Amino acid sequence: MRRLLLFWGSTVGKKVVMAVTGIVLVGFVIGHMLGNLQMFRDAEAMNNYAAFLKSTGGLLWVARAGLLTAAVLHIIAAVQLTLINRAARPTAYVRRDPQVATFASRTLRWGGVILAVFIVYHLGHFTTGTFHPAFSHRDVYGNVIIGFRSVWVALFYVIAMASLGLHLFHGVWAGVRTLGLQQRSEVPIQRTVALWVAIVVWAGFTMIPVAVLLGVLN
Ligand code: HEM
Repeated sequence: MRRLLLFWGSTVGKKVVMAVTGIVLVGFVIGHMLGNLQMFRDAEAMNNYAAFLKSTGGLLWVARAGLLTAAVLHIIAAVQLTLINRAARPTAYVRRDPQVATFASRTLRWGGVILAVFIVYHLGHFTTGTFHPAFSHRDVYGNVIIGFRSVWVALFYVIAMASLGLHLFHGVWAGVRTLGLQQRSEVPIQRTVALWVAIVVWAGFTMIPVAVLLGVLN
């Protein structure tokens, strides 16, 4: 226990926690995105898929608990690392002109905040129905179609998915480096993996609100 606390107390320990919990979250996001593609088969396929997930009972709750723990640890480590960085440089740079930082890395923290707000809204939208105009516990397909008929809601999802794509691009890259799996080359593996994970997840999710808005899904 003491070792675990010492590990968590170090900067490297927090980065490793971010990388490992990040892998769990990326795994969920890829699985969720693939599951959502049932929307393009038909209403029955999507509703059967959702009913199957709910029928797993205890297992679903174990997965939810694991996911929640990973998300909470990921956020706490991120906030603490930000505070440690700020404390190490209490006065901001007069001129900040990062040479290597990409747009994604500079927006990582704000992107993380947008995602946190998105997840709270999303759970109230499609899981509990609190923010949904006509929620049904059985018709998940209908919930998605009706939910995205509001242009503003669909637009919010599109923006949140762009943040997710950028977050994944930088996050996967940073995670691969933290875990020491990086390669030194002109086209390092961490860049290729991060780029493809980000593009596939972004496109797979964004397709749904866009398809509803264009009337392709109805
Ligand atoms: C266009 C994008 C998305 C769509 C259409 C979508 C759709 C849905 C739907 C329909 C549900 C309810 C499923 C059910 O009750 O059986 C759900 C649940 C959920 N979604 Fe999404 N989702 C999207 C993006 C995301 C993203 C990006 C995340 C995370 C970063 C996410 C996290 C979750 C979580 C945590 C749940 C609750 C799962 C549970 O415990 O039952 N979703 N989503």
